Amino acid sequence: MNQKISLPSPLKLITYDTVDSTNEEAKRLARDGVPDGVVVWAKEQSSGTGRRGRKWTSEIGNLYFSILLRPKCSAFKAMQLSFLASLCIAENITDILPATAIVNCKWPNDVLVQERKISGILLESQSTPQGNIDWMVIGIGLNVRSFPKDVEFPATSLIHEGAKNDISAEIMLELFSHRFLSNYKIWKEMGFKPIREAWLCRVAWLGRKIIVHLEHETLIGEFRALDKDGTLILFHNGDERRITAGDIFI
Ligand code: BTN
Repeated sequence: MNQKISLPSPLKLITYDTVDSTNEEAKRLARDGVPDGVVVWAKEQSSGTGRRGRKWTSEIGNLYFSILLRPKCSAFKAMQLSFLASLCIAENITDILPATAIVNCKWPNDVLVQERKISGILLESQSTPQGNIDWMVIGIGLNVRSFPKDVEFPATSLIHEGAKNDISAEIMLELFSHRFLSNYKIWKEMGFKPIREAWLCRVAWLGRKIIVHLEHETLIGEFRALDKDGTLILFHNGDERRITAGDIFI
């Protein structure tokens, strides 16, 4: 099935049947000086990558794309865009799934349906020596028709959750692009606050006991809050720990 995709301006689409990884391709373009707003989409990836260097299974039928952005802000502030991107995915999925589907945002940037992972985001960036963003690539994988079985966190796909059979990666990419541009405008004009609030309306496990896998340690505690910059506040051993990167489980 070859559907024509049209992305709203100023986004510009580059498509591939197969690529190693849309993030890798977007990073190559970024280093070659390609401007803000390019979207790299591939029908399949031969080396799809997840967070922490994990493999991202990338069969035909699911959605794999990366957006190249050059926001004029610090690298720290630009991290907020991963919450924005996962919010867009969660909002679009809610619109197309049956009303009974429970769609949540799992910190920092996964999207769950009925507690199973349907989408993941890989954010990569390069900063100037002054700490500002030179380029940022937001890579998004969304399980449309199939999902991996051999993963540490249970997964699902739109079709398995009751989406209509004519749903496709192409349709989801178009829907995402419109949603992204409108939320990106809100972020640029009003900052992170409205994005954070909308994300919190869908948050998974707030107030619950969670397990946090950090690079060199595992913590168990209560997911107490999301700080105003997106940091997870964990109540652990009578103290509040600020977590900026990691994986959470229950
Ligand atoms: C994760 O949850 O670990 C993040 C997964 C990100 C996968 C997407 S698919 C499109 C883009 N290209 C990649 O190689 N990775 C991201």
